[in-house]
Amino acid sequence: MENSMEEIKRTLEKYSQEHLLNNYEKLSDLNKQKLIYQIKHIDFELIDSLYNRTKKKAEDIKNQITPIEYIDKQKLNGEYKEFQQIGEKAIQDKKLAVVTMAGGQGTRLGYEGPKGTYDIGLDSHKSLFELLADSLKEQGKKYNVVIPWFIMTSEENNAETIEFFEKHKFFGFEENKSIFFFKQGELPMVDAEGKILIGEDGLVKEAADGHGGIYEALVRNGMTKKMRELGAEWLFIGGVDNCLVKMVDPILMGIAIQKHVTAAGKSVVKANPEEKVGVFCKRNGKPSVIEYTEISKEMAEEKDDKCELVYGESHILCNLFNIDAVERMGKKPLPYHVAFKKESYLDRYGNKVNPTGPNAYKFEAFLFDAFGELDDMAILRVKREEEFAPVKNATGIDSPETARELYKKFYNL
Ligand code: UTP
Repeated sequence: MENSMEEIKRTLEKYSQEHLLNNYEKLSDLNKQKLIYQIKHIDFELIDSLYNRTKKKAEDIKNQITPIEYIDKQKLNGEYKEFQQIGEKAIQDKKLAVVTMAGGQGTRLGYEGPKGTYDIGLDSHKSLFELLADSLKEQGKKYNVVIPWFIMTSEENNAETIEFFEKHKFFGFEENKSIFFFKQGELPMVDAEGKILIGEDGLVKEAADGHGGIYEALVRNGMTKKMRELGAEWLFIGGVDNCLVKMVDPILMGIAIQKHVTAAGKSVVKANPEEKVGVFCKRNGKPSVIEYTEISKEMAEEKDDKCELVYGESHILCNLFNIDAVERMGKKPLPYHVAFKKESYLDRYGNKVNPTGPNAYKFEAFLFDAFGELDDMAILRVKREEEFAPVKNATGIDSPETARELYKKFYNL
């Protein structure tokens, strides 16, 4: 321990992070152990380089971006039946597993607790998790199979999420047989000077590494292996906060299989050029998504000869992947994006500070940054009112109120 403490101190000194041990002596024995464990597992080089990147200006990406082809589900004629037959057969043959990403913090919604446990105000008072469970069970019944459900949580909400499922008897799924939970990775947060933040518990303040952490987390936790054991070849990955998410879609599967691509994603038409959504595109010839923060006004407004937006296929976090592709993507590190957030912390004297404005950099990988690893990806345009009712904000656009109305309309409630 002596030796290792000396080593730790040297490492901290090397990266100017000595403050991490400022309150060490005041911690309980358990927290002392936890802090040492955290410090030993921090990739200081990575944190350093991520912090340095916050100082760089965004590069001009215009020349890298081109439009991507898509298939409009409404305009499929003869092919519809063919895709449907192929997709239905694959589902009946148990080739599909479903993954729900539920590790996010839900900051905009401002709800204490895992977002999946949120009640959007339907008469049934069902949580988002239960609405998804209902839909998955119904689809399973339709195809006479039990579709295995994998739920990604974060360190922050894992225990509460599992407790919620236990309380609800896993909504009829069987733990470790048809429902599985796994945790995504975390990264330390740093302040404006690049110093790693200490939380109120005296430990390193870490945050989930973004939905892009899913590939690595699926592989590291043995989930893709489990999927293979269950006979699955494809996995649908969706968010927890879209109460109309169609996790089992024979058309999407049929397209991916028939077109021999390793991934297929769904889009809805962008409501207007200013809408704050990422859109599918090609980046250096590979499938990608361009974020609303990245796209220029000119590109966002560009129209084709049919008067449709050239970059108008919104990415709605509804994607299907071949397991091989996920395992490949899980081994390649993704770039991290940076967000500047308001986070409380302990100062060097051990006093809690509640900042009045953003003070902390959080590093997140985005799921779609891995699309560049795919040779190609089929994009299926679907109807917004049938498949996209997100719960993002507490009020206004994409709020529980708008999601509830869309849900009620779709199900004729
Ligand atoms: P969002 O990017 O909308 O984030 O996540 P969020 O956490 O729900 O909300 P804000 O941005 O803090 O307000 C889209 C989906 O990705 C999941 C979320 O749970 C949601 O289903 N997600 C996001 C993760 O699973 N892990 C993450 O680290 C981030």
